[in-house]
Amino acid sequence: MSEVDDSLKQTIEDVSSRWGGRSDFKVEIVGGWREVIKDWKKAGGKVVHLTMYGIHIDDAISNLRRENTILVVIGAEKVPREMYDLADYNIAIGNQPHSEVAALSIFLDRMFRGKQFEKEFKDAKLKIIPTAKGKRVREVS
Ligand SMILES: C[S@@+](CC[C@H](N)C(=O)[O-])C[C@H]1O[C@@H](n2cnc3c(N)ncnc32)[C@H](O)[C@@H]1O
Repeated sequence: MSEVDDSLKQTIEDVSSRWGGRSDFKVEIVGGWREVIKDWKKAGGKVVHLTMYGIHIDDAISNLRRENTILVVIGAEKVPREMYDLADYNIAIGNQPHSEVAALSIFLDRMFRGKQFEKEFKDAKLKIIPTAKGKRVREVS
């Protein structure tokens, strides 16, 4: 990220300190996105750019699952043409525009085949007890 509201960082820390995953979620403010991408590729990682102009996720997912380390790039404002060339994969979550959060969520869900919902964070202080009505939350000691 090149610009970030400090409250975003604080929110992520607050949420992960209660619900777990403190060491998994980090916000890092970087000076130049090009360098981040180039360094990632130099270290052997692959770059997946989510864009409605790309290859449909269903046509690429089996190749993507074979990759070891993936950096996912999502646009905010206008994405420069250069990004499409820097990416190893330009992937579309359907070829229609929608929100960046939706695009990332669906991408991760396809990558992990829904298994992320089986994950429990060991450092969670709160745990939800699923219930048909109402809210049940247990404090974990
Ligand atoms: C709401 S869009 C904004 C696009 C930006 N205004 C532009 O002109 O490039 C934000 C980001 O969501 C992601 N996105 C939106 N629709 C997508 C789709 N159908 N497939 C994959 N990613 C998508 C892309 O990463 C895009 O850069």
